[in-house]
Amino acid sequence: MFSRTAARALTSQSRAFSSSAARHTKVAVLGAGGGIGQPLSLLLKLDPHVSALSLYDIRGAPGVAADVSHIDSGSKVTGYAADQLDQALEGTKVIVIPAGVPRKPGMTRDDLFNTNASIVRDLAAAIARVSPEAHILVISNPVNSTVPIVAETLAKAGVFDPRRLFGVTTLDVVRAARFLGEITNADPKESVVTVIGGHSGATIVPLLSQSPFGKAVTGEAYEKIVHRIQFGGDEVVKAKDGAGSATLSMAYAGAKFANALLRGLGGEKGVVTPTFVKSPLYEDQGIDFFSSNVELGVNGVEKIHPVGPLSAEEEKLLAACLPDLKKNIEKGKAFVA
Ligand code: NAI
Repeated sequence: MFSRTAARALTSQSRAFSSSAARHTKVAVLGAGGGIGQPLSLLLKLDPHVSALSLYDIRGAPGVAADVSHIDSGSKVTGYAADQLDQALEGTKVIVIPAGVPRKPGMTRDDLFNTNASIVRDLAAAIARVSPEAHILVISNPVNSTVPIVAETLAKAGVFDPRRLFGVTTLDVVRAARFLGEITNADPKESVVTVIGGHSGATIVPLLSQSPFGKAVTGEAYEKIVHRIQFGGDEVVKAKDGAGSATLSMAYAGAKFANALLRGLGGEKGVVTPTFVKSPLYEDQGIDFFSSNVELGVNGVEKIHPVGPLSAEEEKLLAACLPDLKKNIEKGKAFVA
């Protein structure tokens, strides 16, 4: 047994370790000049776990960096121009990627594939070369395909570690909590919903039956909220009327996920959130990427949780999700092959 003093010393030592690990975390944003990249850079500048912020874009990043760098938080911000990708990636521990084109009205996320696939592949190839041990957070759509593209690109370079690659599906989780809170008069902090599957239309599967607030929603109200969670992004695309898709709520969601990962990397226990990762859950059906609750820790992905008990409606949603998701994943892999 440790004496009380020794135990106290150990606790403060491990606290010092985790906070110093957290203090030395360099985070890069690739696509920092864009609609998501700018507010995301702002929010990351406010995150105490970030020690240095490296902002890269093919246009506009030095300006965003100069602006954000005046904020009175501890991290140092540097902006990099189009030809400075390697410098931007140097020494980074976490890399967030919102680079690429967003949707316009009438487009699906898959319509972005042709443009965004090569952007994401080329960024991943640079990461493989310069910072192969970084944790990579993919925001660029279609996430169901861009995450496999990054995985295959890293694998080709011999540096793929599935514990360090994440598709950011947090906006679906944020929307689900908000929309459920709205119809049940709950604080969204209480009406949290696990969202599994992928990140587009029918591949987004909210598990309302696992939430005390959600399981009370039935019939038409249930159909409506499921549709709204799956297609909430369309509301924003339509309202912006050609000017893009969700940027502010997405920046919030991206910063929220990055914060969860940084806390896990810093040694905090019990950090669990849905994210789209290389997953064994439906591998027997040829689907090797899937979003479910994942515990984040010092190595990134510590534990992939099973989806848990599903209602009959959720079984149907999952049955509709899997074939689409499979196609999206295969399309991403085929692009790199
Ligand atoms: P945006 O067009 O405003 O910004 C994209 C930025 O990427 C631009 O500044 C552009 O210069 C930059 N970029 C293009 N090619 C690049 C390259 N090779 N290297 C570095 N930067 C490059 O678009 P927005 O609204 O910021 O959206 C970005 C992506 O995020 C889109 O693909 C969009 O579909 C996706 N998105 C994902 C969500 C999610 O839940 N995962 C939610 C909303 C959007």
